[in-house]
Amino acid sequence: MEIGIVGGTGPAGRGLALRFAAAGHAVAIGSRDAARAGDVVAEVLAGYPDRTLTIRGCANQEAAAAELVVLAMPWDASAPTAGALAEQLADKVVICMSNALARVGKEFYALYPPRGSIAADVQATIPRSGVVAAFQHLPARELADLDQTMVGDVLVCTDHPEALDQTMALIAEIPNLRALDCGSLGNATPIEAFTAVLLQLNRRYQTHTSLSISGI
Ligand SMILES: NC(=O)c1ccc[n+]([C@@H]2O[C@H](COP(=O)([O-])OP(=O)(O)OC[C@H]3O[C@@H](n4cnc5c(N)ncnc54)[C@H](OP(=O)(O)O)[C@@H]3O)[C@@H](O)[C@H]2O)c1
Repeated sequence: MEIGIVGGTGPAGRGLALRFAAAGHAVAIGSRDAARAGDVVAEVLAGYPDRTLTIRGCANQEAAAAELVVLAMPWDASAPTAGALAEQLADKVVICMSNALARVGKEFYALYPPRGSIAADVQATIPRSGVVAAFQHLPARELADLDQTMVGDVLVCTDHPEALDQTMALIAEIPNLRALDCGSLGNATPIEAFTAVLLQLNRRYQTHTSLSISGI
């Protein structure tokens, strides 16, 4: 399967691209500037000369034409960008990994968009797509280090059962990550907001946290 990452030139997009490619998928990293995407892909692949990773760079429009699409741009750009790509994104799974956060002094605080989450805003903007909230809590630096085992739980929520199945299966292909079904898209509100807590922990303990749920 080819996976498109719209806004994939940032740390989060690069990290996910590497993990998906390492799992055997073809990945299209999209950018507002296709040439920039090409440069980023060259840089990303240069870090793993001995691995076979199928990653290409392209314009966001082309990445959005992939079979499954991840939105990996800043939170306030997610719904407008999805709206501009609505035709390409129709009738497919669109994973939103955004967290709406504001920095106040040294701390990050959660912001609450009118529909409660960025994922819900995106879903309202592209109603013909199956929007899924996932990957909010995975630190980009660790994602991009294929020599490091990525351990943690990925909380997944959506209003579309088929999109849930596809996303859970995709996450299961990344070694040591566990996908957890968190129900409908309404739960994207606490999922996105909790990232502020993880960032605070990162700052306090000088680390890069991820999330693990016990009892399941
Ligand atoms: N960083 C993390 O550890 C992490 C972890 C989990 C989730 N997330 C979430 O994942 C998303 C991406 O994170 P990131 O750190 O990779 O973000 P980022 O570096 O700030 O942005 C990613 C890419 O988005 C594009 N972009 C920037 N402004 C845009 C705009 N106004 N309109 C359209 N595209 C724009 C840029 O690509 P081009 O200039 O090439 O178009 C940029 O390289 C965020 O929503 C974040 O909350 C991040």
